[in-house]
Amino acid sequence: MSLLKKIDLIQKNFKAELTSSIDDLDKISDLHNKYLSRKGILSTLFSELADADSKDKPILGQKINTLRKNIQDQLSSFDSNQTSKKSSNIDLSLPGDYFAEGKIHPITKVIEDISNIFKNIGFSIFAGNEVEDDFYNFEALNIPKHHPARDMQDTYYLKNDKLLRTHTSASQIHFMEENEPPIKIISPGRVYRNEDISVRSYCLFHQIEGLYVDKNVSFSDLKGVMEYFSKEYFGKDVKVRFRPSYFPFTEPSAEMDIYWGLNSESDYRITKGTGWLEILGCGMVDPEVFKNVKYDSNLTGYAFGIGIERIAMLKYGITDIRLLYEGDIRFLRQF
Ligand code: PHE
Repeated sequence: MSLLKKIDLIQKNFKAELTSSIDDLDKISDLHNKYLSRKGILSTLFSELADADSKDKPILGQKINTLRKNIQDQLSSFDSNQTSKKSSNIDLSLPGDYFAEGKIHPITKVIEDISNIFKNIGFSIFAGNEVEDDFYNFEALNIPKHHPARDMQDTYYLKNDKLLRTHTSASQIHFMEENEPPIKIISPGRVYRNEDISVRSYCLFHQIEGLYVDKNVSFSDLKGVMEYFSKEYFGKDVKVRFRPSYFPFTEPSAEMDIYWGLNSESDYRITKGTGWLEILGCGMVDPEVFKNVKYDSNLTGYAFGIGIERIAMLKYGITDIRLLYEGDIRFLRQF
């Protein structure tokens, strides 16, 4: 068959094939491959042109070019017809898909903010364990056998002499066992106490433990750092006070209050009419504790434990502690 006839035939075939593929985008794309790809019909035609009589070449070449242009045009216009047909099926007035936006839980936020304040002054973070045994939660912290905290009523005891830690102070012991002084850590986490559940108390809550151990650490270092933290977190004008207190693992011990005020009825209730609110316990590490972790007796240090829930409730005006644990998204979305 002469090349000229071939060109005519291909043109006819293409038309027929295109007509039968009109409704099928896949078939259109097959046609594209069949005619226009590198090993397609058109390229075969061009290679056959090389063997043609040289006087016929210009005219044949022109014909093949025209055919190719034709096929290209038809296929591409057909493509865009189809896609515009397709996209016109989308109803742009429909509301979009709803993506639930994640929010940071107020407890997490308070822990992060407070941790950052201590990180800025050189404390590093140590994660303790929620499941402990008697030694770490009580014994090594100088909490005697008859101490009420050990009572079944307060502590959740597990199988195999394990228990859920009742305070983050257990982290102090783990860290000192594994590290040499000087030590400067905070250890945030969850603690558990078997308390009656009410507006003000829950069976679990969060603390941030702090521990600083070195030579010549004094109570005024402790006071200075606690005041610094309070100003950073509550603002420059915050008023704080220290009250003597008792913890078996610190001596002397104190509790720190911040002045909350008595401006409203609810302030009155929150602070029991004093205007002051306790937010942490602290003190100088008791030498017995150093003995229990086999530290030198000439070391000194301070420890503190900050209650997170109370701070979160104050900061965000939450009046029922249970809201913090129920996972109700209507509550959580407000933060
Ligand atoms: N662990 C104490 C509590 O849970 C708080 C505390 C920590 C007190 C460190 C002193 C030093 O109440």
